Amino acid sequence: MENGVEIVEMIGDCNVCYDEVCRNGFCFDDVKKEFDWYKTGKVNIAHEAIDRHAKSWRKNKVALYWEGADGSDRKYTFQELKIRTDKLANVLKNAGVKKGDRVFVYLPRIPELYASAIAIAKVGAIFAPLFGGFRADAVRDRINDAEACMVITTPEMKRLGIDPIRKEIPSVKNILLCNIPRNYDLEPGDLSYDAEMIYASEQFEPEWCDLEDPVIMHYTSGTTGKSKGVVHVHNAMIGHYITTRWVQDLRDDDVFWCTADPGWVTGTSYGIFGPWLNGASQVVYAGRFSPEAWYWVIDKYKVTVWYTAPTALRMLMKAGDEVVKKYHLDSLRYITSVGEPLNPEVIRWAMRVYGLPIHENYWMTETGCNVIANFYSLPLKVGSMGKPFPGIEAAVVDDKGRVLPPGVPGNIVIKPGWPSMMRGIWNNPEKYSEYFRIPGWYMTGDSGFVDSDGYFWFTGRIDDVIKTSGERVGPFEVESALLEHPAVAEAGVIGKPDPLYGNIIKAFISLKPGYEGTDELKREISDFVKTKLAAHAFPREIEFKPNLPKTRSGKIMRRVLKAMELGQPLGDLATLDDE
Ligand code: WTA
Repeated sequence: MENGVEIVEMIGDCNVCYDEVCRNGFCFDDVKKEFDWYKTGKVNIAHEAIDRHAKSWRKNKVALYWEGADGSDRKYTFQELKIRTDKLANVLKNAGVKKGDRVFVYLPRIPELYASAIAIAKVGAIFAPLFGGFRADAVRDRINDAEACMVITTPEMKRLGIDPIRKEIPSVKNILLCNIPRNYDLEPGDLSYDAEMIYASEQFEPEWCDLEDPVIMHYTSGTTGKSKGVVHVHNAMIGHYITTRWVQDLRDDDVFWCTADPGWVTGTSYGIFGPWLNGASQVVYAGRFSPEAWYWVIDKYKVTVWYTAPTALRMLMKAGDEVVKKYHLDSLRYITSVGEPLNPEVIRWAMRVYGLPIHENYWMTETGCNVIANFYSLPLKVGSMGKPFPGIEAAVVDDKGRVLPPGVPGNIVIKPGWPSMMRGIWNNPEKYSEYFRIPGWYMTGDSGFVDSDGYFWFTGRIDDVIKTSGERVGPFEVESALLEHPAVAEAGVIGKPDPLYGNIIKAFISLKPGYEGTDELKREISDFVKTKLAAHAFPREIEFKPNLPKTRSGKIMRRVLKAMELGQPLGDLATLDDE
C-alpha cells in the first residue's frame, strides 16, 4: 500500500522495459521495419497477418484453434489460412467486390468470420463486422450508412436480421451464406459460401494498398444520433502489432485467447489482427459464456495469455473457487482486461485463485489499439488503467484544453497521430470533428485523473454512452427503438450502475393514452427492443412515468433522469421545461 493505493510489484523478465523505452523516445516508426512492406513497398494488412507467416518458418504453425459451441473443434495453420483466404478473396472478387467497397460480416464466431476479415482486406475492401446480437433495425441502419455491397452471414442470422429489411438495403447486391443446409433455396443474389469456395482458384495476388487506405470499419455508438462508422486504415497494423506484443506481452510460443467478439473492436484488433501480425497462435471459442466452458477452453488449449473483460471476470469470481480447481489453468501466465473499470477485489481474487494479477488497459473503438495500460514491466497499481503506451501522449485537461494537475479530474485526451487512430467517421465529417472540440487533442469521451506517478484513473463517461457488460450502447438508438412500440409516447434511456454488468440499461417511458403500465407491458417492450434492435441492448429495467424531464426545445434530459435515479443533485435546471 502507498497512500492508500495497492501496488502489485510485477517488474521482471519482460520483453519491454517501459521506462527505458520511453526514455529512448520510442517512436511507432521504429516498428515499420518488421513488416514486409517496409522492404517491398507493397502494403496489405492481410499479407502481413497471414501470408507473410505462411511463407516463413511459421508456415505449419497453428494460427487458429477453433472451439465450436457444440464441442466440435478445428485448427488451421498459417499456410491453410493463406489458401482459404486466397480462395475466398477470389470468391469476393468474382462477385464484383472491389477496392474500397464495404463488406459487412454478420456471423457468429465461426471460422468463416475470421477468413472473411482477411479475405476482405486482401481484395482491398473494407471489413465491417456486425455483432451477432444486432437485429433488423440496427443491421439496416448500419448497412445503409455504409452503402455496403455485400453481407456475409448464415441462413439463421439472415432470417433474424436481414429478411425483415431486405428490401430496405438496396446497395447490397449479394448475400454470401455460410453453412447452408441441404435443400436450402437460395434467393436471387444469394450465394453459397461453400459452393463458391469449391471452384475458387487458390491463386490470389492481394490488392496492394496505400498505408492510408481504409480496411476496417466498426460501427459504434455516441451520445446523439445513430451509430457511426469508425474508419481504420492499413497503417493501423503498426498499432495492432506492437500493442499486442507489449501490452498483451505476446511472444512466439504463446497461445493467446481474446474472449471478445469481433463485432466489437477488441475482438478485431486483438481477436484477429494483433495476434496474427505477431505470428501467434490464437484460440476462438464460439460458444456462450459459462465458467466451466471458459476454464475448459484454457485447459484444453493451454492458453498462456488471456484477454478478457470485467463483467466476465466478475461472473467467474461469483462462480467461486471450487470450479477453478476442476481445471488445469497453470498454463496461464498473463491476464489482461478492458472495456470498463475493473474492481480491485477482482484482481485480489485472481491473484489468489489463478496466482496472477489482472493487467487492466484502456482504449476504445476510435483509438484502434490499447492506449493506456498496466504494462508487465510497471508496478501494477490496482484500480488504475496504467500509463500511456510509449509514443502516445495522453493527458487530463479541462474544457479549454488546460492540462490539470495530478489528482484533479477532467477530460481524458490524447495527442492525435498514432498509427491505429481512426481516420474518419464514414460519411460524417461533422461527427468526426466533434472529437476535436478541444484544440490539439482527441477527446476520448471519458473523464479521469492522473496521479503523481503518471498513472491514469478512470472516473466515468462525460457523455451518455452506456457500457453494459463492457458493450457500448448508444441511448439514442434504444430510445428510437422504444418509440416504435405502439404504447410508447416518450422514452429516455440511461445506464444504471450494476454490480455485475457494470451498468444496465434503464428506460423511462411515458405511455400513450389508453395504455396501462403493467409488468406484462414492460416485458413486451423489452422483447420488442430485443427483436428490433439488438439482443444485448434491451432495457433490463423499465419505469413508467407520466412526464419525462425535457428542455424547452423538447429534448429529454437524460442527465436529470440519471440524477433522479441515483438520488444525486439535479444540477443546472435552467433549460428544463417546467411544464
Ligand atoms: C470504456 C472497448 C474503464 C471507456 C475497447 C471507453 C474503460 C469505452 C476501460 C470504449 C477501462 C475501456 N476502464 N473504462 N480500463 N477501457 N473503457 O469503443 O468508457 O467498445 O471510452 O472499446 O470503454 O468502448 P469501446
